[in-house]
Amino acid sequence: MVENMLQRIEYVEETRKDIAKKVSPLHKSKLGQYFTPTSIANFMASLYSFDQFENIRLLDAGAGVGSLSASFLERWLVRDYTSHIDVIAYEIDPQLEGFLNKTLSMYTKLATERHMGYAFKINENDFIEDTVNLIQFGGLVKYSHAILNPPYKKILSKSRHRKLLHAVGIETANLYSAFVALTIKLMEPKGEIVAIIPRSFCNGLYFKHFRNFLLSKTAINHIHLFSSRNKAFKDDSVLQENIIIHLIKSGRQRNVTVSSSTDDTFSDYVINEFPFERIVKPEDKENLIFIPTMVEMNPIETSKTIYHSIEKISVEVSTGPVVDFRVKSFLRNEPMENTVPLLYPGHFIDMKVKWPNYDLSKSNYIQNHEETRKWLLPNGYYVVVRRFSSKEEKRRIVASIVEPHVFGSMLLGFENHLNIFHENKGGLLPELAYGLAVYLNSSVVDQYFRLFNGHTQVNATDLRLMKYPNREILIKLGTWAKSVGIINQEAIDKEVGLLL
Ligand SMILES: C[S@@+](CC[C@H](N)C(=O)[O-])C[C@H]1O[C@@H](n2cnc3c(N)ncnc32)[C@H](O)[C@@H]1O
Repeated sequence: MVENMLQRIEYVEETRKDIAKKVSPLHKSKLGQYFTPTSIANFMASLYSFDQFENIRLLDAGAGVGSLSASFLERWLVRDYTSHIDVIAYEIDPQLEGFLNKTLSMYTKLATERHMGYAFKINENDFIEDTVNLIQFGGLVKYSHAILNPPYKKILSKSRHRKLLHAVGIETANLYSAFVALTIKLMEPKGEIVAIIPRSFCNGLYFKHFRNFLLSKTAINHIHLFSSRNKAFKDDSVLQENIIIHLIKSGRQRNVTVSSSTDDTFSDYVINEFPFERIVKPEDKENLIFIPTMVEMNPIETSKTIYHSIEKISVEVSTGPVVDFRVKSFLRNEPMENTVPLLYPGHFIDMKVKWPNYDLSKSNYIQNHEETRKWLLPNGYYVVVRRFSSKEEKRRIVASIVEPHVFGSMLLGFENHLNIFHENKGGLLPELAYGLAVYLNSSVVDQYFRLFNGHTQVNATDLRLMKYPNREILIKLGTWAKSVGIINQEAIDKEVGLLL
């Protein structure tokens, strides 16, 4: 029998590490099995207030070996004024059942010794399936507390999970948001949820429904941001930042505590409190969730000049239409009859284009053919922003200018890893293109962008959600940029700073 708290926690931690080593990468990714280290589990458990319920009913959905429940139970043992606690742990992987059982059993004797009521149940069913059934057909007993590190995996649109979720009014495309949405439905009013999840729901287009649901049913009490992007939530080479979020079902929205640390050592822990308007802007129809880490506001948040939407400046931003593997037979390395330039991110260095570039492993040309023509744009001035910035890059948004004189061609191809700013699928005014590129490359834009985007990917949607100065100001900025030639970061920041 594991005797004291340190030994118990150590046992859980060793089991977690042991299993993490033994589980094959395929099994891991199939079930989204990434277990929570003790330091994080303890931090999560420390966020509960415990003051609303006399009896606790704890949900641990996707429990793994029970690390989260164990940390919760340790916290409960220390506070020991509640009369009873029930733990309901869902874990679909039968291989983990024995370990989970052992973890939760450690607390049976302890609770008895201390005259505290404790019972646990391990449910080996699929959490989504089981919960939807309970919601639809009755038998639901609500929870006072929930702690979760849900699996992280896309839900395909035709899958059974998607249909089940749809049946209870949840539209979401990832298991993690599905687990959180269902958990919200399962909570008592004033019930507390603490979850560790990727940050992607805070701004992703596909998470709008989930954001609306979360914001309408719960109050956000605390957000903890891990600023190092954790490989645990690696998805399609997009490195995600992760957050811990503490929600109160049907709670009154008060100020939000935001803390941050680089990683799970919490060695550089910083904590601040913000009015809710800094987290979700009252006028924002997208309900983006900002995560400020500094008390000072970003100047764009309060600017009287920079508040226009992209539509207001009559510019559009789209993803590059040429998906190269779909038009493989039309790609060319050398110019030939009926070929036009094809631009990849590798063709841009800082603000400038370097084309053709035969050092790249990518094609420089695409055939202008009836099958490809619909993907080509007229030659002109454009601003491009690469969709995937590298980890080493200082700024997330890296904007470059396409100038027509570089290419002796009527048409241009833009590859799918680029975002393009255009006007009605045509070029921009030269000064506007320069102005936009300078604005987008400023440090203040980068800092603003990081408030709502936590990964290395820059999507057209994110650029659509940015605020811009008006067209005249952008043109003025562009006129300045054109006149000075080569511009460094300091000059950009100084000039954009004058607008704030
Ligand atoms: C990210 S892991 C977290 C495990 C544990 N909560 C922790 O923090 O260490 C998610 C767990 O959910 C389980 N899981 C995946 N899909 C599930 C489902 N549909 N129903 C119940 N459990 C599921 C996985 O087997 C995995 O153990």
